[in-house]
Amino acid sequence: MNILVTGALGQLGREMQILAAGSSHRFFFTDISDQEGVEVLDITDPAAVWQMADRVEADCIVNCAAYTNVEKAESDQELCLRLNCNAVHNLAAAAKHRGALLVHISTDYVFGADEGRTPYREEQPGAPLGVYGHTKLLGEEAIAETGCRSVIIRTAWLYSEFGSNFLKTMLRLTAEKPVVKVVDDQVGTPTYALDLASAVMAVLEDYAGCGLQSDSYPHAGIYHYTDEGQCSWFEFAREIASLAGHDSCSVEPCTSEEYPSKVRRPAYSVLDKTKIKETFGIEIPCWNGSLSLCVKKLLF
Ligand SMILES: NC(=O)c1ccc[n+]([C@@H]2O[C@H](COP(=O)([O-])OP(=O)(O)OC[C@H]3O[C@@H](n4cnc5c(N)ncnc54)[C@H](OP(=O)(O)O)[C@@H]3O)[C@@H](O)[C@H]2O)c1
Repeated sequence: MNILVTGALGQLGREMQILAAGSSHRFFFTDISDQEGVEVLDITDPAAVWQMADRVEADCIVNCAAYTNVEKAESDQELCLRLNCNAVHNLAAAAKHRGALLVHISTDYVFGADEGRTPYREEQPGAPLGVYGHTKLLGEEAIAETGCRSVIIRTAWLYSEFGSNFLKTMLRLTAEKPVVKVVDDQVGTPTYALDLASAVMAVLEDYAGCGLQSDSYPHAGIYHYTDEGQCSWFEFAREIASLAGHDSCSVEPCTSEEYPSKVRRPAYSVLDKTKIKETFGIEIPCWNGSLSLCVKKLLF
């Protein structure tokens, strides 16, 4: 099976590159900039997307590219929309033209305005709070409009050993400062991008087994994937400091109001993962076990 991956230099894209090394499928990695083993593909360019999908004879397209800076999105709406919605439409149209499967990643931030307090299920209507969540929801709708075969995986609070993320920021701050204050009134689930990449691989294997040769793919649809469990950003930060042995820093809770931000984030965005576990037979690790593995890779 030929698999075109976009955004291959991001957190998820790099973990996909690691897992692809042990796969029997042919992967073609692309991003907005090139690097060894990664070709340039700007997903906002519909002709380039179409040509690349044809050139590599894509059976699947895995979209790891996105506008992911939640804070900056509030003042950069146009680019955020272009990347999270219009470009996703380009990928879906190319997938439709090829009869390929589009595996697209969305976010827990499509929820939040409804002030839910139980894990969100896939069929619940989206209610985003900010520009980022809103454009990601529009991206999901753009896929549905094309009618291409798709698996949309909503995930949350991604971290990895690559790029910049909350984990790396907290490792630095708790090493440098005597006190770090972190919001304690937003609850979600930290998710190691490597675990999410494993879930994407499970979907690709399932598609190779039962979707590639048939007229319809029975497992197309929207799924939720995060690591297991839940915590606040404060609890996440405290665990990071503890795993790193940064005992001289006191990690203290604060409220969202004490922490100036342009964007309102969901107070609760935990996702229900029953569907992805049952459909693809995925076993999901707990967030703190995966965090420990990633911290070890970064520090020890
Ligand atoms: N990060 C999170 O906490 C989080 C939470 C929930 C859901 N998600 C979703 O999970 C997915 C993966 O997130 P991530 O954290 O791995 O993202 P990421 O690290 O920000 O990676 C995105 C990649 O896309 C590239 N890109 C930007 N513009 C592009 C374009 N026009 N054409 C092609 N590539 C382009 C970026 O390049 P540059 O870096 O050069 O711009 C980057 O390499 C995204 O769909 C995101 O919305 C993420």
